[in-house]
Order: sequence, then structure tokens, then C-alpha cells
Amino acid sequence: MKNYITIEEFINGIPKAELHLHIEGTFEPELMFKIAQRNKIKIKHESVEKLKAAYNFNNLQEFLDIYYEGAGVLITEQDFYDVTRDYLKKAHSQNVLHTEIFFDPQTHTNRGIKFDVAINGINKALKDANEKYGMTSKLIMCFLRDQDSNSAKKTLEDAEPYKDWIAAVGLDSAEVGHPPSKFKDVFNLAREKGFLTVAHAGEEGLAEYVSQALELLNVSRIDHGNNSLDDDKLVLQLVKQKIPLTICPLSNLKLKVVDDLKKHPLKNMMERGLFVTVNSDDPAYFGGYVNENYLEITKALDLSKEDVYKLAKNSFEASFLDEKQKEGLINRLDSFCSDYL
Ligand code: ADE
Ligand code: ZN
Repeated sequence: MKNYITIEEFINGIPKAELHLHIEGTFEPELMFKIAQRNKIKIKHESVEKLKAAYNFNNLQEFLDIYYEGAGVLITEQDFYDVTRDYLKKAHSQNVLHTEIFFDPQTHTNRGIKFDVAINGINKALKDANEKYGMTSKLIMCFLRDQDSNSAKKTLEDAEPYKDWIAAVGLDSAEVGHPPSKFKDVFNLAREKGFLTVAHAGEEGLAEYVSQALELLNVSRIDHGNNSLDDDKLVLQLVKQKIPLTICPLSNLKLKVVDDLKKHPLKNMMERGLFVTVNSDDPAYFGGYVNENYLEITKALDLSKEDVYKLAKNSFEASFLDEKQKEGLINRLDSFCSDYL
């Protein structure tokens, strides 16, 4: 006889990995004000409430404008540590056993903050979470695609002393007008140096950008990838090559990639055999961490506990952990689920 728990309890308790998470996007307004005060920086919005009220976006660019402004109060290693520590605490409370975190060095180096300051603060928090919670992590360094490729190259050079701390390079920021092809050379260089590669593609950009990310950047995963569905041949390729798509339901809703979660393509993607995972993207801005993303999309699309299990299993399988680590985490997942499925 199996035990019964609600779908919400099942989602909260199920072991999972998060694979699409911008650390700058976890910067909660309360911490932002605290750090701004400590650094004697004035935030444009005069209170937490007024700042939160501004989190109303019509598209990716409107969000990015406010996201870069928020990241602008991060100055010291301690600031980067604090943001990362708070995210990891929250992720641990949501039964995230493994997380793969993006950071945007250029967001900080462009305003005179040294690469070392950001990565040292983030890395220390990752190490502490491993000791405290047993949580594992990987770091992914994203290039801002609306900057030129020379700036990305310079960032890759900055990363050289920290190669052991960085698993992969990625591509984020304003997508339309900044195709993957712009970064072919720097991604080649990154792969020569031993980095894995991922890229945001098909969030606002066309399916063609997803194809380019696969063909020209040799990515191991696509971040978002929603618009892949417009191209049947591409869908077949993604299925055949088992390329993971890191899907972010609440982000898609808040940035108007979909106008209603009921119209979100996640279930359709699963039915077509795509290798999808659920993630929070920028949880401080989009109204939910990973469990809220699972819950809202489950309610909207009437997903079953088996579907949730599949998504959680995909999250481990699509991670950059080695096979033995994946097996260990999937065993923990199966042991949790054996009581309820
Ligand atoms: N940077 C932070 N969140 C992003 C997103 N959803 N798309 C592109 N760049 C981002
Ligand atoms: Zn993202």
C-alpha cells in the first residue's frame, strides 16, 4: 500500500536539481536594500514595496534593465557571498540536491568590479553549502550577447586562473539581434580550454538561434528553447541527440513568452520526447523558486506525479555531474518516490 501525499507535498519533497538559475536573479529586494545601505548606494526605488511594484515586465529587455540595475549594488566579495548563500539556503529548503548556477561577469567588470571579487564570493558560498548541506554545484560563466565578442574573449581570459571552478560557458542577455553565430570563435576557444558550453536560445529568438547554438557553439544544453517547437526538423534533432532544454515556466509567464501558463508548451514538449527540465531562471524577479515553478506548471497543465518524477529525474540526468554522482542522486530520488508512486 502506497502512502498518499498531495501533489504539492510531492513537489516540495521530491529531490531535484536546478540547471537554469542566474545568481544575480536571486537578489531579493530586502537583501538588495541591506547591501545598498552597507555600500552607501542609493536605489532608484525608495522602498522594497516600490521596487517590487516595478517588477512588471512586457518583455525580456524590460526585465534586463531592472536586473542590471539591481546587480549594480554588488561591490564586495561579501556581497556576492551573501546573495549566493541566501539562494543556496532557499534551494536546500526546496530539496534541491544539486544546482548549476550562471553568473554574468561582464555585468560586474563593466562597472569596475574585478572578476576575482565576484567569483571568489560566489565560490565560497558554494563551498560552504556543500559542507553544510551536502549540496553539490557547478558554476557556468555567461557572456552577455548584447556586448561584442571581444568583451567575451576578455572575460574568458579573466576566467583562466579560475578554470577549475567553472564547468561551462553560456550565453545570456538580450537575444534578438544577437545570434549565437556572433560568438562562434569565443565558444571554440572556450571548448579548446576544456569548458562545456550552453546557450540561451529560442526564448524570444527564433528556432534558427537554437539550431545555430547546436551547430556553431556545440552546446550540451539549450536554455529555454521554447521556440524550437516552430521547427519540426529541429525538434527531431533535439530528441535524437537528447539535448536537454532548461525550461523556466514562471519566467516565460512574467516575460510574456507565454500569456497564460495553461498555454505553456512544457507538456507538449514532454509528449514529443524532448528532454526537458523545470527551473526558476531569476526567482527573485519572477515570483517563485524552483518548487513554485513545478507547482504552478503542474496546476496549469494538470501534470501527474509521474510527470513530476520524470522532470526531476531529467534534472539529474541533464546535469554536468559524472555518471556515478548522477546515479547516487537518482537513487535518492527513487527512494523518495517509491513511497508515493
Ligand atoms: N539574464 C538573466 N535572465 C535571463 C533570461 N531569462 N534570458 C536572457 N538573459 C537573462
Ligand atoms: Zn536564463
